[in-house]
Amino acid sequence: MNYGDRQNNKKKYLTMQAFLKGGSTFSKNKEKTAPTTSKDAKDLKETKKHIPWVEKYRPRCVDDVAHQEEVVSVLKKSLEGEDLPNLLFYGPPGTGKTSTILAASRELFGADLVKQRVLELNASDERGIDVVRKKVKNFSQLTASGTRPNGKPCPPFKIVILDESDSMTRPAQAALRRTMEKQTKTTRFCLICNYVSRIIEPIASRCAKFRFMPLSVKTLGDRLKMICEKENIQCSEEAMTALIDTSGGDMRKAITYLQSASRLKVDEEITKTDIFEIAGVILDEVIDQLIKACHSDSYEKLGTCVKDIICDGHSAMQLITQLHDKIVQMEELDDKQKSIICEKLAIVDKCLMDGADEFLQIMALTGVMMQQICHEQK
Ligand SMILES: Nc1ncnc2c1ncn2[C@@H]1O[C@H](COP(=O)(O)OP(=O)(O)OP(=O)(O)O)[C@@H](O)[C@H]1O
Ligand SMILES: [Mg+2]
Repeated sequence: MNYGDRQNNKKKYLTMQAFLKGGSTFSKNKEKTAPTTSKDAKDLKETKKHIPWVEKYRPRCVDDVAHQEEVVSVLKKSLEGEDLPNLLFYGPPGTGKTSTILAASRELFGADLVKQRVLELNASDERGIDVVRKKVKNFSQLTASGTRPNGKPCPPFKIVILDESDSMTRPAQAALRRTMEKQTKTTRFCLICNYVSRIIEPIASRCAKFRFMPLSVKTLGDRLKMICEKENIQCSEEAMTALIDTSGGDMRKAITYLQSASRLKVDEEITKTDIFEIAGVILDEVIDQLIKACHSDSYEKLGTCVKDIICDGHSAMQLITQLHDKIVQMEELDDKQKSIICEKLAIVDKCLMDGADEFLQIMALTGVMMQQICHEQK
C-alpha cells in the first residue's frame, strides 16, 4: 500500500467515525473536527436551553432597556462622548437597575476592556469599611487612559458599581465620601439600591439620582410577547393579563413565572389558572367564600373555612394581601369600619412576619371583620 492509499483509507475511517457520531461528512477538510464541533454545538445548545430566561433576555445594550427613558437618555449621551456623573439608581426589584449599568459599561469600554475598567461589588461581597478603604480606594486611584489597546478612543475613567448598596453599613458609606470626591478625575461611582432612604445624605448629594419605575403594563406585555414568540410558546390573552397583574411591574418576576408556566405546559396553551397557581394567587372564589363566612355570624363556620384555606396550602400573607383589596372595595362597610379592619390587618401582618401562627392570626382578622359586618351599625 503506497502513501496515497494509506492517507485515503485514514480519511475514509475518519469520515465513517464522524458519520457514526452524527458529525457532518460534507466537508472534506473538517472530518477530524466534525465530531467535536457537533458535540460542542450540541452542548452549547443544551446550556442555552438551561439558561434562565431572565438572564437570556437581560438587556445587552442601553437601547434594550425598556421604560426607563430618563436614565437611558443620560447614558446614551455619555456613550456619545459626554461626561458621566456619579450615579445613584434606586427603585423596586426587577426594574432593570443592574442590567442598565452592566449594559452601559459594556458599551462604554467594549467586551475586552470592561473587566479592567469596572469593579462590581454587590451584597454577596464583603463591603465593610475595610474593603472600601483598601479595594475600592486602590482601584479608584489607578489611572485610566483614553484609548483602547487597538488605538480607538474610550472614556478616560473607570466605573465602580456598588450594587445593593442599601445593605452597606453607614461607616462604610461614610468612608466612601472622600474617595468619591478625590477620584472624580479617574473614577465614576454607580450606587444601586432598592431603598434610597438607606443611603446617607452626603453620598446621595454627590450623585445624579435616577428612580427606576415599576414597568408599565404595555412594556411588560410587549416584552413578554416577544419572549413567547422567540421561545415558541402559546400564552392566552387572559394568562398574559394575569402575568402582568401578579408581577406588579417586576419584569424579573413576570419572566420567571412565564418560564415556570412553560415548563408546566409543554406544547399546550398557558392559561390564567396556571399563572395563578405558580404565583400562589388565591382564587377569587376562595376569598369570596371567606367573606361569606364572615357574614354568617358563626365562629364555627368561620373556623372551618379558615382551616380549609390553610390546609389547602395557601399562604396567610397572600391571603391578607388579597383580603385587603376586597375590603377596600366592599360597599357595605363605611370608612370607619374599613379603617378598624385595616388596622387589625396591619397588626396581623406584623405578627405573621414575626412568625406567629397562621390560623390564629387569620381567625383574629376575620373575627374583627365578622364583628364589623354583623354587629356594628353604619
Ligand atoms: N427595563 C427593563 N427592560 C428590559 N428587561 C428588564 C428591565 N428590567 C428588568 N428586566 C428583566 O429583569 C431581569 C432583572 O433585572 P435587573 O437585574 O436589572 O433588576 P434590578 O432592578 O437590578 O433588580 P434588584 O433590585 O432586585 O437587583 C433582567 O435580566 C431582565 O430580563
Ligand atoms: Mg440588581
